[in-house]
Amino acid sequence: MNKRVAILLSGGGSNMVALAQDMHGAHPARPVLVLSNTPTAGGLEKAAGMGIPAASIDHRPFGGDRAAFEAALTKKLEAAAPDIICLAGFMRILTPHFIARWQGRMLNIHPSILPLFRGLHTHRQALEAGMAVHGCTVHEVTGELDGGPILGQAVIQIKPGDTPDDLAARLLPLEHRLYPAVLRKFAVGDHSKVSLCA
Ligand code: GRF
Repeated sequence: MNKRVAILLSGGGSNMVALAQDMHGAHPARPVLVLSNTPTAGGLEKAAGMGIPAASIDHRPFGGDRAAFEAALTKKLEAAAPDIICLAGFMRILTPHFIARWQGRMLNIHPSILPLFRGLHTHRQALEAGMAVHGCTVHEVTGELDGGPILGQAVIQIKPGDTPDDLAARLLPLEHRLYPAVLRKFAVGDHSKVSLCA
């Protein structure tokens, strides 16, 4: 039986597209829901165009009430009964309660070589640190922000004169290879690490 995958996003959804395009044929999983906290997220339209049920729960009316927002997310998710949740550019911090509900079944992609450069502005952080390489990480989501067991990493070289935008542009195609490669394995219970180089 195919594993059911829900993908949470806040933006353009290019990682969601890469994941969803990979989930066909003998792939052990299928996308069952794309969910966004941003009703205007480009990823929602892309999901609908690919025939994947897409929905949004705007976080703004909930104000600071994260628990109520997450209760609404959980309701939508439970209706889709996912086996795996992939965070793909989902820009809301999740509470320990929500994470505990899905722990062991929730993955995230973060644009740095974790545990370096958690949080935002990772490309700038890598440049400011004088790194020779940069990369992205797919990891299990735990209560620790951008923590959790590492399942895969991809690495690019940093060249003289690179800007944060240059790094983002060179890294994204690798994100699109890494996340599907990890999901294929994770969906069959294989947690061995994937490593990719540009
Ligand atoms: C990616 O760089 C991802 O690593 C980060 O947010 C970005 C999402 O891009 N967490 P997209 O929406 O998948 O195009």
